[in-house]
Amino acid sequence: MALNHPSFGNLADDRIIIFDTTLRDGEQSPGFSMNLEEKLRMAESLAELGADVLEAGFAIASRGDFESVESIARRFAKDGPVVASLSRASTADIMSSIEATRPAARPRVHIVLATSDLHMRVKLRMTRDEVLERITESVTLARNHVADVEWSAEDGSRSDLEFLCRCVETAIKAGATTINIPDTVGYALPADMGLIFSTLMNKVPGAERAIFSTHNHNDLGLAVANTLAAIQAGARQVECTINGIGERAGNASLEEVAMAVRTRQNALNRSTGIRTPNILKTSRLLATITGFDVQPNKAIVGRNAFAHESGIHQDGVLKDASTYEIMTPESVGWTTNSLVLGKHSGRAAFRDKLKALGYELGDNALNDAFRRFKDLADRKKVVYDEDVMALVDDEVLRQHDRVKLTALTVTSGLHTRPMATLKLEIDGEEKEGMAVGDGPVDAVFNAIRNVYPHDVALKLYAVQSVTGGTDAQARVTVRFEEKGKLVDGQGADTDTIVASARAYIHALNKLLVKRERTAPADLHPAA
Ligand code: KIV
Ligand code: ZN
Repeated sequence: MALNHPSFGNLADDRIIIFDTTLRDGEQSPGFSMNLEEKLRMAESLAELGADVLEAGFAIASRGDFESVESIARRFAKDGPVVASLSRASTADIMSSIEATRPAARPRVHIVLATSDLHMRVKLRMTRDEVLERITESVTLARNHVADVEWSAEDGSRSDLEFLCRCVETAIKAGATTINIPDTVGYALPADMGLIFSTLMNKVPGAERAIFSTHNHNDLGLAVANTLAAIQAGARQVECTINGIGERAGNASLEEVAMAVRTRQNALNRSTGIRTPNILKTSRLLATITGFDVQPNKAIVGRNAFAHESGIHQDGVLKDASTYEIMTPESVGWTTNSLVLGKHSGRAAFRDKLKALGYELGDNALNDAFRRFKDLADRKKVVYDEDVMALVDDEVLRQHDRVKLTALTVTSGLHTRPMATLKLEIDGEEKEGMAVGDGPVDAVFNAIRNVYPHDVALKLYAVQSVTGGTDAQARVTVRFEEKGKLVDGQGADTDTIVASARAYIHALNKLLVKRERTAPADLHPAA
């Protein structure tokens, strides 16, 4: 039967709504925090990918979170995805979400309240009746201001099923238009999911008036399996994240769910609005912003996801790719033509290449990126797609930096004390400094600290190669900790020391942004 939803109207029978929570459940996990610019870039990319709902944040958590949700809502003021903000079941949270999402063409308030006996007793200190009452009050309040209200039963998969039915009935009666059942701690098995969804959808009076949604964590590696089981039992919305990032072991991965639905359409009979050729680009953007690459064997977006090593497999693929490939690499954004530009390539060819890779840069950013590309092409024989993407991502990441690296010279070698001399532009003013260190990278980091004094703990320094070969670009990730909060910075260059300096300064800039904001609240405290 066709549903009539305030944001989606009469949803086609086979259509699955993709609710992306990369910017909320994903972003709240350690090391994955993003600044406003980065969240806006991710939001743009997710909209291009075809996500139906963006959970932009948890508006009341901090001033920064509120601003991010509001900015994303403003970005989608005319059209685009539904913009949601998470709230606990309290007036302050709900009003903050209403306020932050108001500019969006299609705002959503997402209310969460725990329903398992364990969470109600230990965390909420509320009885079942009190929880039911709170559901009515909170959903009614939200519905007085906004048409699209999602209600989530935190720890739903470990809740008593009879009681869960009463909670869901109460939420629908109060006006919830989407009912989400999270497997908050990643405990459920696919069969549990099937039972929960079929029971709720068949037993709860009024169930036909709401969209049922599934939200799965990956503690047992079952998040995608549980999501598919819920779909098979009737769930019409799936909550997921790019690259599967999220609390602890992460959330169900958007790309895996979308490709399972597409590839096994014959079994699932469902479709999504995901433009699958954009998947790889979105995954890489997230990796660049957060500094966390996916593992090589990650389904869909891992470097080896379409690589065939064994002779038997290679022989089969050469004869007919479908012998060992259940989907084409191109269908998720991998290109076979990855050998690209060289030092004689002009601006037009560079712009065409960027377009093919999904980047639309303004004139200034294009000029800066082109200058860096020429510089790279002078130093590197072959410039691959990966090089161009690393370079552009690096350029865009730096656009609004307060501290910029303008010059760097390093001396190091056998029987020489490594020494770095550098210039930084700080809020438009150039400053110079130098330092020695236990190695060239240490000397550079000391020099930066001399020019711009700050006191943070360096928690991670990691170097990866963007492509193969000794002339490959290095992508460096640096992580700082200050007062228990982590920030990551990235930098890419053919010179590992320059990439390290860029990564350090990127982390420093993110720290400056973070310091301006108040500390985020605990996402799962008592309501
Ligand atoms: O895992 C969870 O329960 C959540 C809710 C806030 C939906 O993320
Ligand atoms: Zn979650």
